[in-house]
Amino acid sequence: MSSDAGSFDDLLHEDRRFPPPAEFVAQAAVDAEDLHRRASEDREAYWASWAEELDWFEPWETVLEWDPPFAQWFVGGKLNVAHNCLDRHLRGSRRDKTAILWEGEPGDTRSFTYSELHKEVSAFANALRGLGVGKGDRVTIYLPMIPEAAVAMLACARIGAIHSVVFGGFSPESLADRNNDAEAKVLITADGGWRRGKVVPLKANADKAMERSPTVESVVVVRRGGELSQQVDARMKSGRDLWYHHLVEEARPECPAEVMDAEDILYILYTSGTTGKPKGVVHTTGGYLTQAYATTRAVFDLQEDDVYWCTADVGWVTGHSYIVYGPLANGATVLMYEGAPDHPDRGRFWELCQNYGVSIFYTAPTAIRAFMRWGDQWPERYDLSSLRLLGTVGEPINPEAWMWYREVVGGERCPIVDTWWQTETGAMMITPLPGHTETKPGSATRPFPGIDATILDEDGDETSSGYLAVTSPWPSMLRTVWGDEERFRATYWSKWDDVYFPGDGAKRDEDDYLWILGRVDDVLNVAGHRIGTMEVESALVEHPATAEAAVVGKKHDIKGEAIAAFVTLKEGRQGTDDLMQELRDFVGSKIGSIAKPEMVVFTADLPKTRSGKIMRRLLKDIAEGRTVGDTTTLADPAVVQRLQAQHEEKG
Ligand code: WT7
Repeated sequence: MSSDAGSFDDLLHEDRRFPPPAEFVAQAAVDAEDLHRRASEDREAYWASWAEELDWFEPWETVLEWDPPFAQWFVGGKLNVAHNCLDRHLRGSRRDKTAILWEGEPGDTRSFTYSELHKEVSAFANALRGLGVGKGDRVTIYLPMIPEAAVAMLACARIGAIHSVVFGGFSPESLADRNNDAEAKVLITADGGWRRGKVVPLKANADKAMERSPTVESVVVVRRGGELSQQVDARMKSGRDLWYHHLVEEARPECPAEVMDAEDILYILYTSGTTGKPKGVVHTTGGYLTQAYATTRAVFDLQEDDVYWCTADVGWVTGHSYIVYGPLANGATVLMYEGAPDHPDRGRFWELCQNYGVSIFYTAPTAIRAFMRWGDQWPERYDLSSLRLLGTVGEPINPEAWMWYREVVGGERCPIVDTWWQTETGAMMITPLPGHTETKPGSATRPFPGIDATILDEDGDETSSGYLAVTSPWPSMLRTVWGDEERFRATYWSKWDDVYFPGDGAKRDEDDYLWILGRVDDVLNVAGHRIGTMEVESALVEHPATAEAAVVGKKHDIKGEAIAAFVTLKEGRQGTDDLMQELRDFVGSKIGSIAKPEMVVFTADLPKTRSGKIMRRLLKDIAEGRTVGDTTTLADPAVVQRLQAQHEEKG
C-alpha cells in the first residue's frame, strides 16, 4: 500500500470540516438531495434520467442487462458521441459559444466555437474515411496537447472508429506495442510538441514505432513543431505519411455522424496493471457518455458561463472524460494548455487562470504539492478571483496540500472536490458534490448518487478498513480488456462474486466518509501516473548487464511515490554510477521517462522466500529507510542485512 498506516491514523484525527458555501447551495447545477433520493429509490430509472438529457437517434429498450461481469447499458439505444458533443449545441446560442480555448507553451493561441469545432471535426472525419477508416477500425492518436488531439478523438467517434490515445511521453516501443495490440490502421501524430522550451520529436518517435507496426497503413502528421517542421517535411514517407492540414483542406466539412449502438466501443485506453504488459481498457458509447456528462455537470457544478480547465493530458483517462467528452457534452468552454507548469516560470498556470478567467480548475495532488513547494508568491502574483471551484484527482491528497490549495489558490472561498475514479471506471465514482457535501481535507467523501461503493475484507464482508469495492455495475464501467477477456475477469472480478475490485485500500470514518489509501497491488502511482512494477522490471532485465530486478515504490514528497529498483548484475559486470544512469535511461527508452527509476541499488542477491518469491515488502522498507519487518520466511536472512548495511552506507 502506498500510504503507511501511520499517516492514516493522522488522517483519522483530521477534524477540520468545510460546509458547502452558501452560493453553491443556493445556485447548484443539480439538486443533490433529489439525485440521492431518486438513485436510492430506483437506480436504473435515475441513470436513465441522466441519459435522457443526451440526444438519442433511437431510444433504448432496457436500461441495464447485467450478466456478471458483463454489463450492457441502454440496450438497443442508438446515438453518436461526437453528435452529442457538437451538433447538439449548434441549435441555439451555443453555436457561437467558445468550445476550446487553447494556448501553446510558447504563448501562441487558438480558439474554436462549437460551430467551428464541428466543421473541423467533420472535415477530419471525412479525411479518415478517405483513408479507409470505418466503423470499428482502430486509430492510434499520439499527439501533444493541441486542439487537434480533441478533434482527432471526436472525428473517430463521429465515424465510429475506435481511438486509442497514447500519451506523448511514451517511448516508440510503447507506442508500437499499443499499435500492435489494437491492430491500429492509422496513426495520428505531430511533427513535435513543446515541453519546457524544447520540441518533443513525436514524428521521429512515430517513425521508430512504425518499424514494427505492420497493421498501420497511414500516418497523419499535424504541423506543430516549429523548427522541426522542415526536417519532418523532408522525411515524410510517400504513400504512408500525410499532413493533417492538407487532408482537412481537401475534405468536405459536412460528415453525417455514424449511428452507433449504445454498446459499440468508443475507445481503448492502455493502462498499467500487475503484469509486464499494459492492458487495453475498453469503453463503450451510451453508458460512458452518460456518466461522463452527469459527473461533469454535478461535480463541477457546471454553469453556462464557466471557463473550465483540467490540466491533465488527453493521453490519460482524465483528459478523455474531463477535457473532451464530459465538458463538450455539456456545452462547456474548455481551456487546453500545451506545456509545462513551470515554463517560462512557475507562475504559468496562475497566469493562464487570470488571463482566461478560469472559474473551475481540476488538477492532481502531485502538481499541488509542487506548487506548494514553489511558494505562495507565484499564485499571489496573479488575480485568481475568477476561480470558484477546485478539483483534484489521481492519488490520495494529503491534508496539508488540500489546505494549501484551499487557502492560497482558492482564497478560502472555493469548494474542493477530491474525485476518486480510475481508467477502468471511466468517470468519477466517489466525490463530494459542491453544493451539498461537507468536505474534510483528504477524503473523497461519499459515492456519487447511483454508485454503490463500499469497503470489504478479503472474504467480501463489509468492514471499515480494507479493500475498496464497487458492488453494482455503473454506466461508464469498462466492458472488457481488449482481446483478453480472461484478464478482465481475473483482474477485476475474481476477488469476490460479482463485485468489482479496483485495487485500492480504503477506510471509512464515523461519518461514513471514505478515505482512499492507495493501491494494494503491484501498481505504483508516480506523480499521478500508473506504472506497473512488473513493467519496469521487464524493461530492466532486457538490459544486457542485468540478471534480475525487483522494483518497489518509495514515498516521495512531491510525486507521492518514486520508483526504486534493486538490480543484480550478470557475472563480470560492475555496479558503477555510469551503469546506474544507463539503466535509468534504458527504462526511459523502453517505456517512457515517467518510468525511470529514481533510485537504483545494485545488490548481489535479492531477498526471496524459500519458494523463490521476491519479498518486495522488505525492499520497500529498505528503500524508505525503515526498520526491516519480519524476515523469518526468507531463504537467506543475511541478504537483507547486507542490503540494509549497503543502503545506510550510501545514505
Ligand atoms: C488510481 C487510478 C482517475 C484519473 C487519474 C488516474 C488513484 C485516483 C484518486 C483520489 C485517492 C486516487 C487510485 C486509483 N486515485 N483518484 N481522488 N484519491 N486515490 O487514473 O491511472 O487509472 O489510476 O489512481 O489508486 O486506483 P488511473
